[in-house]
Amino acid sequence: MQLISSPLQGFTDYRFRNLHQKYFGGIDVYYAPYIKVQSDLVIKNSYKNDILPENNSVYELIPQLMTKDKYEFVHIAKYTKSLGYKEVNWNLGCPYPMVAKRGMGSGLIKNAELVNEILEFAYSKLDISISIKMRLGYEDVSESFELMKVLNKYPLSSIGIHARLGNQMYKGSVNIQTFNELIKNTHHNIMYNGDINSYDNFLRIKEEMPSVSSFMLGRGIISDPFLARKIKNNSDTLPSNYLELFSEFHSELLSQYSEQLSGDKHIIIKMNSFWEYFKELFPQQEAKKHVKKIKKSKLLSDYNTSVNDLLSTNK
Ligand SMILES: Cc1cc2nc3c(=O)[nH]c(=O)nc-3n(C[C@H](O)[C@H](O)[C@H](O)COP(=O)(O)O)c2cc1C
Repeated sequence: MQLISSPLQGFTDYRFRNLHQKYFGGIDVYYAPYIKVQSDLVIKNSYKNDILPENNSVYELIPQLMTKDKYEFVHIAKYTKSLGYKEVNWNLGCPYPMVAKRGMGSGLIKNAELVNEILEFAYSKLDISISIKMRLGYEDVSESFELMKVLNKYPLSSIGIHARLGNQMYKGSVNIQTFNELIKNTHHNIMYNGDINSYDNFLRIKEEMPSVSSFMLGRGIISDPFLARKIKNNSDTLPSNYLELFSEFHSELLSQYSEQLSGDKHIIIKMNSFWEYFKELFPQQEAKKHVKKIKKSKLLSDYNTSVNDLLSTNK
């Protein structure tokens, strides 16, 4: 069984990925959040930095690109290849209206003809494996069944399927029945994605898809960074030193963002976006007031005090 870290733009950057592997483990492959180009085919430094080999220490990293233009596709894929990557993943899942309404991300699923054109061009120009990350459609599941007929023509290395429609964004329930129907229509290597957010939930989902052996964990490894390790260990228990591990992980993450960002405000905003998820690791009633104080901190000194208070009340 393979566990994959599903990319989250703004969260699973190289800092998070490196530290996640160092402190928690359990993930076999990390997918990097998408890279886009500007209109002049320029790749911004922030995207470049995220996948530079010298910044990344995880066992396996696969970069992702987002485009609906065959020249951009080839340009970004060649760049990733020049860095030594053997595979690039194509984002056909992003649901944000600014992306999908422009026919990219999940907005491309219903345009099987264009996907075909891009893949045909890409395979003629590139010497790198290509994988896909998609949804069940943007508005209707029939879109993914049509798209699969096209995808079946190409030697893709895998297809990750987030079992929702694009217009659901990240809400509503995943549609496992349709996921199972869809994968009957392909021999590609399939990775399941969507709502694996606890050990029990993983077991339930896995049972419903006996032929699937690769699972992508997105938000679940931020709200419970130990989740992949629990799944690999076949046990829902946290390690006895989980607070120490989380505390060291948190300190290193904070210190790396403090180097990257300037001013308490920006650092705290960044860390608080993680706390929207990390708070799930502290369900105890008395933890709530500390989490509230963390979120309200204006100065890093207050932020640190509140994090320490939280971690010491949970000992
Ligand atoms: C804030 C955020 C950013 C995301 N960024 C990406 C991305 O860059 N590329 C991608 O393929 N999916 C992205 N996703 C989707 C996740 O990888 C994943 O498919 C989705 O959250 C469902 O899986 P989960 O329920 O395990 O989180 C993002 C999701 C969120 C919530």
